[in-house]
Amino acid sequence: MQIDNRVNGKTKVIALIGNPVEHTISPYIHNTISSLLGHNLIYVPLRTDKHSLEEATLGLRALNISGFNVTVPYKREIMKYMDDNSRDSLLMGAINTVKNTSGKLVGYNTDAEGFLRSFKEESGEGFEGKRVMIIGAGGAARAIAVKIAQEGAEKICVINRTISKATEISETINQNIGNIVSAAEYSDENFYNGFENNQIIINTTAVGMYPEIDETPLNENYFESHHIVYDVIYNPRTTKFLQQAIDKNAKPINGLGMLVYQAILAYEIWTGTKIGSKKSREIFDAISSMKI
Ligand code: ATR
Repeated sequence: MQIDNRVNGKTKVIALIGNPVEHTISPYIHNTISSLLGHNLIYVPLRTDKHSLEEATLGLRALNISGFNVTVPYKREIMKYMDDNSRDSLLMGAINTVKNTSGKLVGYNTDAEGFLRSFKEESGEGFEGKRVMIIGAGGAARAIAVKIAQEGAEKICVINRTISKATEISETINQNIGNIVSAAEYSDENFYNGFENNQIIINTTAVGMYPEIDETPLNENYFESHHIVYDVIYNPRTTKFLQQAIDKNAKPINGLGMLVYQAILAYEIWTGTKIGSKKSREIFDAISSMKI
């Protein structure tokens, strides 16, 4: 019989806490990275009940875990249990990555930087001087909007079903980064007005995610060929929203790159290893070809 020696006394453990965690593909990404780099590190999802979040956080520290990811629905709530949070994550109002340095827990947000890297990689463009529309005003929208503002966008319009959440994002950015964000309610009229003046349109809502694959945040197809259209959804790879973009010869990008790059950035934080662009691309290609 073959001995399974993948885990031994020196194995570094990285966890994912959230609820639910059963459908996550993050273990595939992180364990692929650790195999590729020859690191003795294993990544395990741990479903955490909402009443046990503080205990779970203290427990992970007590067990001297190297670090962990945080997913839905705890990305904001867990910040209060950290010894420190990065400045960016305070503006974004959420963390997804925690590093344990000698018992000190520090929270980071790699979702936004992961989005930025994947956008640049797949479009060949950046955000400087660009006009951007963001659909949705949840945690993902907020992190992405902060990052795009920091990158020097000219204008950002946040459109959301609940206007107060869009306004909250615009106020945070206008007060802390630059007066460039407007907020609007989710309506055909607000989508239509000035839509063609944007260069980049980003869907951050779950509308169109499997199994509701026939849904899209846009009732009418307002896309034009000059648009770059990003959907944070990666299942399915081509959402109806991205299909609308394809139908108008616009450039479609799905959320798989964001998922892979936020993971690569988190891995870099935990291990101090720099994963170059060639290896990052290899990891992205491997995960892209996986059936999910
Ligand atoms: P995430 O962390 O992934 O951003 P979230 O914080 O729950 O998730 O935010 C989800 C966003 O999608 C919200 O902006 C939500 O709109 P509301 O603020 O009005 O709730 C938006 N959203 C979700 N389902 C939607 C739907 N069916 N139509 C329009 N917007 C929707």
